[in-house]
Amino acid sequence: MMTGRRQGVFMRNDGQLLCRSQIAVAIAVGTLLGYVFAFLFPHGPIQGLGITKANFLVGISCSRNAVPQSYISMSELTHEKLRLAEQGKVHAEKQVVPVLGHEQHKAGPFEFGTVIADEESVNPRLAKILAKVAVRKELIVVLANSKVKDMLEVWFNSIKKVGIPNYLVVALDDETANFCKSKDVPVYKGDPDESIDTIARTGGNRAVSGLKFFILREFLQLGYSVLLSDVDIVYLQNPFDHLYRDSDVESMSDGHNNMTAYGFNDVFHDPAMGWAPTVDTMRIWVYNSGFFYIRPTIPSIELLDRVAARLSRLPSSWDQTVFNEELFFPSHPGHEGLHASKRTMDLYLFMNSKVLFKTVRKDANLRKLKPVVIHVNFHPDKLQRMKAIVEFYVSGRQDALKPFPDGSDW
Ligand SMILES: *[C@@H]1O[C@H](CO)[C@@H](O)[C@H](O)[C@H]1NC(C)=O
Repeated sequence: MMTGRRQGVFMRNDGQLLCRSQIAVAIAVGTLLGYVFAFLFPHGPIQGLGITKANFLVGISCSRNAVPQSYISMSELTHEKLRLAEQGKVHAEKQVVPVLGHEQHKAGPFEFGTVIADEESVNPRLAKILAKVAVRKELIVVLANSKVKDMLEVWFNSIKKVGIPNYLVVALDDETANFCKSKDVPVYKGDPDESIDTIARTGGNRAVSGLKFFILREFLQLGYSVLLSDVDIVYLQNPFDHLYRDSDVESMSDGHNNMTAYGFNDVFHDPAMGWAPTVDTMRIWVYNSGFFYIRPTIPSIELLDRVAARLSRLPSSWDQTVFNEELFFPSHPGHEGLHASKRTMDLYLFMNSKVLFKTVRKDANLRKLKPVVIHVNFHPDKLQRMKAIVEFYVSGRQDALKPFPDGSDW
């Protein structure tokens, strides 16, 4: 059983080795060509020809560990390679994961090991829907059950108003599926799965929130990038016009200013140390697991699997905490870190409700900004605040946000 994983590890190392040698060759070729061109054109038309060492480098294909992720979207060819690599990877993952001598099964009822040569065997029904709904292989995805019907309506109305075509509701019960159909909203109802279904139909906020890590995998396996959205979000512009697409995961922040959202040095004081009383520490407010853009890469799928596995083992954990720990904690003894790249979204364009109600609505300049989305994540009176946000930003009613306290009253 352990060999499967081992193979996976070796494959990855081989990939990296191969990649390094490929890069070395490319640098050598690039450098050589640089000399040739410098000889032929001593006054430097090389730039004019658009030929630089960097250009040569762009032609190499290798394991994602060594290249910026933007690389992978460059052509269908590399995409295909990724798919193949993923199969190898996932086959390996299907086996037992040895962690320092402990055999640790990929836990729980959600075993996503089976992979999957072509779209037909992943999920033909979903593949068909995605082919119809997605634009440039991207789409917004929300999970909803009938408990959040009113919010869902504000959610898709705001999306329709902006004119975003590529969005999909994953209905967790029939009532929601029928509601979406009646409103001409693209909807997908997964095949009945007992383990997921109970949570899906009866789960509260947090339980349902964790489900996305189980459900999204197929979307990624089919090669789609997903902008995962909670239902308590109002859309004011098309988010796909504001993504960078340079990372495995691009996420909204729970931070409330530049420092907290983008990271800062929090100096720790230990006066007893005399000569060396301080230690620099790094802090960043967590990513919001209710709004993130995830690209169909191996690290992304690995992230979903890790979070799903941990949530299966300990269902009471908060998916957002697990999501952040997996994204940010480095490798250390007993733990192999996730090699995923990440980007924090602009906190005024992808705005959380703390930023809106504590800062933006009171600041004459910030009030004039038009956010892309606003997520009512910090407040319990979600529906009322969502409606007020629409009033303020869409209908232009200047006092629409006034009645609400900064935080909640309880
Ligand atoms: C926050 O960061 C943005 C982007 O780097 C910058 O334009 C802005 O001036 C910063 N705001 C403050 C208050 O430092």
